[in-house]
Amino acid sequence: MDNNKDSIILGIESSCDDTSAAVIKNGVLLSNVIANQDVHQQYGGVVPELASRAHQENIVPVVDTALKNANIKSTELTAIAFTRGPGLLGSLLVGTSFAKSLSLALTIPLLDVHHMKAHIHAHFIKEKEIEKTNPNFPFLCLTVSGGHTQIVWVEAPLKMKVLGSTIDDAVGEAFDKAGKAMGLGYPAGPIIDKLAQKGDVSKYQFTFPKAGKYDYSFSGLKTQFLNFLNKEKQKNNQFVEDEIHHICASYQSHLIKYLISNLEKVMLKHSCNDIALAGGVAANSELRKQIKILGKKHNCKTHVPNFEYCTDNAAMIAISGYFMEKEKLFTDLSVSASARMNM
Ligand code: KG4
Ligand code: ZN
Repeated sequence: MDNNKDSIILGIESSCDDTSAAVIKNGVLLSNVIANQDVHQQYGGVVPELASRAHQENIVPVVDTALKNANIKSTELTAIAFTRGPGLLGSLLVGTSFAKSLSLALTIPLLDVHHMKAHIHAHFIKEKEIEKTNPNFPFLCLTVSGGHTQIVWVEAPLKMKVLGSTIDDAVGEAFDKAGKAMGLGYPAGPIIDKLAQKGDVSKYQFTFPKAGKYDYSFSGLKTQFLNFLNKEKQKNNQFVEDEIHHICASYQSHLIKYLISNLEKVMLKHSCNDIALAGGVAANSELRKQIKILGKKHNCKTHVPNFEYCTDNAAMIAISGYFMEKEKLFTDLSVSASARMNM
């Protein structure tokens, strides 16, 4: 791309159960369309086969609407950024194949985006006429989603290093699986968040499972929670109904204390002026509050993304692509979707 030409990037996200497309022009967001898949709610989790089928139905109308909302013709696009991974392979394949076909038809370059890096890049989404302060480099980012839990050292937009991560489940799964055991809907994270508002955070106690230095184990915590629930239900079969607010508040508070405690350990070793939150669980109200308290305690500026850019969206894929386009980090048509990808 020549430097005087406008950059107009179409972003495509299809890594899990949201089909999304976005357009950014010279780094400014023009549109961001997301089609959620309600079909999974009845199963208490994402069913991969149903997810890829729904992506196939949604991708054309979602991309079409994103272009229309942005008032951009497909022939004006300068590049296509898509999520290559990590995620569900069948879901990723839909976005990847669509992006490749469109790039071939329009003869424009392709940018293969790492989904977790894009969650961090969500902090740099610029909206027209909305002033915001970006995190200063280097910063530490706690990246928390349904598939990942990581503490990332971000030196530059495309220079990141994972300092700690979960050794098994992600924190989003710890929310969702606990919710399933309590008969809540899917995804349970936002439901637990809401129910917890009226509960006592110290009514029920849990312990912190041990993992590596800055690592987490949420599978251990989930098992602890399920054992606790079974034990209490033996004493009172109405336990969940009677105590739902207190259970949610205590469990949520524990998950968040665990997240924050490792982040604080890292902060004591890796000094920086800015810390940030990213990923779907970054929408959690208690986590947003606690990370701000942590930042204040250590004299750091704290950045939490807008709610719409926490959970999966294509605006973050497009901005990630924008950073890659500047460095001419294009890929070619031989690229394939990848369920697992290192940072
Ligand atoms: O980033 P995301 O949309 O998809 C993945 O890349 O995984 O994250 C989805 C996760 C789900 O586990 C969902 O329960 C969780 O984010 N989540 C929340 C909240 N909103 C979404 N967890 C706790 N509190 C919330 N308010
Ligand atoms: Zn995600």
